[in-house]
Amino acid sequence: MAFKVAWFIGLCSLLLGYGVNVEASHNVFLHLQSFQNTTATLQPYRTAYHFQPAKNWINDPNGPMIYKGIYHLLYQYNPNGSVWGNIVWAHATSTDLVNWVHHEPAIKPSIESDINGCWSGSTTILPGDKPAVLYTGIDPQKNQVQNLAFPKNLSDPFLVEWTKPPQNPVMTPIDGINASSFRDPTTAWTGPDGEWRVIIGSKIDREGKAIMYKSKDFIKWERVDHPLYSAKKTGMWECPDFFPVSVNSEDGLDTSATGPHVKHVFKVSLDDTRHEYYTIGTYNLKKDKYVPNKGFIDSDSGLRYDYGKFYASKTFFDNSKNRRILWGWINESTTPHADVKKGWSGVQAIPRKIWLHASGKQLVQWPVEEIEKLREKQVNLQTTYLKKGSVVEVSGVTGSQADVDVSFDLTKILKNAEKMDPSWDSPQLLCSQKGASVEGSFGPFGLLVLASKGLKEQTAIFFRVFKDQKKYVVLMCSDQSRSSLGKQLDETTYGAFLDLDPLQEQLSLRSLIDHSIVESFGGDGRVCITSRVYPKKAIYEKAHLYVFNNGTEDIKISKLSAWSMKKAEIAN
Ligand code: FRU
Repeated sequence: MAFKVAWFIGLCSLLLGYGVNVEASHNVFLHLQSFQNTTATLQPYRTAYHFQPAKNWINDPNGPMIYKGIYHLLYQYNPNGSVWGNIVWAHATSTDLVNWVHHEPAIKPSIESDINGCWSGSTTILPGDKPAVLYTGIDPQKNQVQNLAFPKNLSDPFLVEWTKPPQNPVMTPIDGINASSFRDPTTAWTGPDGEWRVIIGSKIDREGKAIMYKSKDFIKWERVDHPLYSAKKTGMWECPDFFPVSVNSEDGLDTSATGPHVKHVFKVSLDDTRHEYYTIGTYNLKKDKYVPNKGFIDSDSGLRYDYGKFYASKTFFDNSKNRRILWGWINESTTPHADVKKGWSGVQAIPRKIWLHASGKQLVQWPVEEIEKLREKQVNLQTTYLKKGSVVEVSGVTGSQADVDVSFDLTKILKNAEKMDPSWDSPQLLCSQKGASVEGSFGPFGLLVLASKGLKEQTAIFFRVFKDQKKYVVLMCSDQSRSSLGKQLDETTYGAFLDLDPLQEQLSLRSLIDHSIVESFGGDGRVCITSRVYPKKAIYEKAHLYVFNNGTEDIKISKLSAWSMKKAEIAN
């Protein structure tokens, strides 16, 4: 006990004694960067089937790929502590995207042009099945430059050793590029002239820019005189992603694919708000410019992959299953003190298949099918009517570690829906004002997860349906205001409008619950919301799962299946 108190006092003085500065979008706590705690025993927030290393800080997924049948996940990692710093590319491999083996870090500071850090980047598979990594290095002057790395031994499917060619750095911040806003190269693609193109995130004043470079041989890169795309008042663009999607199939496409049945997606992570947004549009091959379709909004009030905690994401093309897969980083909402105490910070979201919705108006995401092999002990609920105020427990599943899929059928009963006020244009605000306990007519109804018996603690994921002039409006929310009886650090109620006609289609909700993470997919993956929660009571076997209806109208559950989830083997 005495030791614990001394440790706590020591840590507090460390935190108070040294200032916090900010680099990229990460807080920098210099004196915690190499500080490790070995006392944490109870770990109720560690996940069972999300990817995380045994300890320490992680952030962005980097350079994901499949090589000779092996999936590679590389990611930003601090080998020495639980706050951001000392950044290297950690490395893990898997045959199924569920169970992982950790390797030694693949890319570490070792040359002048990355001596102060190996920041984010991407993999491109060059002809002859040769992976090449482009990543941001931080040089002795703290300038951001782009470097190359190649696997040392292509006959090793695990690619454990990497080398850096003597030509590094291959891109430097010249011609007016701001040296502290020049980072995160994408996967490269080839244009009609056969040359490689890549974009790097940047900004000039507050205008976000996707600076483009071209190369014939992947070694010598030249800056193109115009950006692929730029947008005013968006601030620094971190981790851009640019990839083609098929207009008539859920299949993914190679990053260089073009043609009449192809649209392009442009995504950035906004340093200012720590949200991501994307647009769908056309890649003009002649002008080498991207043009979003009419109606898409260049800000995080436009379309987002995820309306909760999900950042610095990246996709790759999985040619073994013809799909495009999205990885994203879920960070903590806690203080650095709590992160140092528990000895780790951050997890990767469950990889999601991503494709264009048949409407062409948005993307759809769904957890990769492989995750379903962790399902066990299935529980089903037959057709059930939830009356006003009802809360029904789904018993028989492990509430702290579960996958639940429920469909609500409103197709025949939607009368008396509340009127939509045209001034309600912010779904997140609407979700906060009309939380899970605020009675409506159709809704709030949905799931209560990581809930304690008696419901003092609960995270509610729910819908409300409103009547607009001509159509119905579906709101999806994830309410964290009662997620923890402890000191709540993030009480945001996340929300988004779901583009779905509840008269025509059932309303589905799938939630992946994993101790401190709830990843929810509404409308078959049209809206995704990830919540990061820290329950005090509803932990381990004390976490329960319920369906509820706090609206005045009856709600019909047409189908509900829930499974306990086994622990993935992530060697930690
Ligand atoms: C995004 C980011 C990137 C940068 C990396 C540093 O979270 O700030 O822009 O390359 O993290 O770790």
